[in-house]
Amino acid sequence: MTRLPSWPKATIRQQLTVIILVALAMILVVGNRMESWVKDVYAISDLEDLADRLDTIARVLATASPDDRQIIMGHARAAGWDITLAPMSTTNAFTHSSSEQNSLIALTDWLFPPDNDPPLGGWQTFLNDRRVVAAKVDDATIVMTLSLPEPIVTSDFLGRGPHFLLAFVVLAGLFSVFAVRAITAPIQKIVEAAKRTDIHTGAVVFEEKGTVEIVTLARALNGMRRRIKLMMDARTRMLRGIGHDLRTPLTRMKMKVERMPDCSEKEALIADIDRIDGMLTETLTYLRNDYATEPLELVNVASVLQTICSEFSDLGHAVRYDGPNKLNAECRPVSLTRAVTNLCDNAVKVARTVVVRLSEAPDALVIAVDDDGPGIPQDYRERVLEPFFKVDGARQGSREGLGLGLSIVADIARLHDGRLDLLPRQPHGLSARISLPRTSPSSGQENPAAR
Ligand SMILES: Nc1ncnc2c1ncn2[C@@H]1O[C@H](COP(=O)(O)OP(=O)(O)OP(=O)(O)O)[C@@H](O)[C@H]1O
Ligand SMILES: [Mg+2]
Repeated sequence: MTRLPSWPKATIRQQLTVIILVALAMILVVGNRMESWVKDVYAISDLEDLADRLDTIARVLATASPDDRQIIMGHARAAGWDITLAPMSTTNAFTHSSSEQNSLIALTDWLFPPDNDPPLGGWQTFLNDRRVVAAKVDDATIVMTLSLPEPIVTSDFLGRGPHFLLAFVVLAGLFSVFAVRAITAPIQKIVEAAKRTDIHTGAVVFEEKGTVEIVTLARALNGMRRRIKLMMDARTRMLRGIGHDLRTPLTRMKMKVERMPDCSEKEALIADIDRIDGMLTETLTYLRNDYATEPLELVNVASVLQTICSEFSDLGHAVRYDGPNKLNAECRPVSLTRAVTNLCDNAVKVARTVVVRLSEAPDALVIAVDDDGPGIPQDYRERVLEPFFKVDGARQGSREGLGLGLSIVADIARLHDGRLDLLPRQPHGLSARISLPRTSPSSGQENPAAR
C-alpha cells in the first residue's frame, strides 16, 4: 500500500482549518466549472430563462395585428417553441399543484425558488396536471408553453446545486480522511500498544507521531508507563529483600528449635517455621517469574494433561482426563504444566471430583479444569486473579495458600496470548478455562506476565 505523505506537525484545530480552506477553494474553482458543464453538456433548461423568452414573445404579440400574430406563432413553432395562444379565461383553470409532479422537482423548486418576477399564474402553474409557463399578451389573450422540457429546474438550483453537491462531497471526503489519519488511526495504535504493552521493557510503546495532541497523549502515556515500572521495580526489590532477609533468621530459629528438648511445642514451632519458609519460597519463586523466559515448543498438550491427572490420582485425588489422546500445539510446556497443576490444586482442595478437559475451538485450544466444589461467587471471580487475594472461607488449615495460584495461571495464559475464564458450573462447581489461541503467541521477551 502506498503511504500518503504525513501531515506537518500541527494541532487538530490547525488541520481542520486547512481542510476547510482547501475545501472552500475547491468548491469555488471546481464548482463554477461544474455549473457551466452541467448547463452546457446536459443543456438543462432553466425556468427563468424560459419565462423570459415567453415574455419577449408576448410583448411582440401584443403589438402585432391578429394576422401578424398567426405568422409570429407559426415562426415560433417552426423555431421549436411549442406555444399556443389562449383566451385569458384559461387562467381560471390554472392550479398550483399536480398529482403527477415529480416530488424531486417539487423539492428542488421549494429549496431553490427563482429570484425573478413570476410569470402569469406563478412559477408553479399547472393546467390539466401539466406544468405550463404563461405570459399575458393583452387583456383577452395569453400565450403559454404547451410542453416543458424535462428536466426543468430553476437557475438558482443550476447555479448553487453543483456547489452544494461539491461542498458535501469534498467536505465529507476530506473530513473522513482527516478523521482516519489524524484521530482514529493514531488512537487505534495507542489502544493496540496499550493492549500488548509490557510494563517491564523500557521501550517506548506509544508511538509519538501525529498531531500535537496525539503526540502529547502518547508522551504522557509513555511517561506514566515509566513511572509505573519504577514503582513496580521498587515493590519487587522490597519484597525480594524482605524474603531473603527473613530466611536467614528463620533458618537460625529452626536450628535452635531443633536443639530444644522434645516437647509438643517444639513440633508446633517447627511446623510453623516450615510453613513460613514455604510461603517465602513461594513468594520468591513468584517474583522470580521463571516461566516468562521459557521458550515455545511444539508439545503434545494431551499427554501433558494426562501426566498431571495421573500425578494427582497417585496422591489419591479423583482427577481424570477427558479429551483426545494426542493434540500438538506450540506452547511453553513447563509453564502450562504449572498453570494446570495450580488449577487442579485449587479444585482438589474443595471438590470431590475433578475433570481436566481438552478441546479445540475453531481458533483456540481450551483446557478446562471442572470441579464439583462450591465455585467462586460472582463478586470474587475477578479479584481472585489478583496476586495474594483469597476468598476468606476457602482457608484450609495447613494447606492454606498465599493466593498466588490463579494470578500465575492468568499470567501464563496471557503469556500465550490467551486468557483464563472462571465460569460457574451447574448445580455447583467451577470451570476454570484456559484458552490458548491457535496462532503463534508472542515471544518470551515481550511478555505481559513478566514481573
Ligand atoms: N476451584 C475452586 N473452587 C472454589 N474456590 C476456588 C477455586 N479455585 C480458587 N478458588 C478461590 O480462589 C482463591 C484464590 O486462588 P489461588 O489459587 O489464587 O490462591 P490459593 O489457592 O488460596 O493459594 P496458592 O494457590 O497461592 O497456594 C482461593 O483462595 C479460593 O478461595
Ligand atoms: Mg491455588
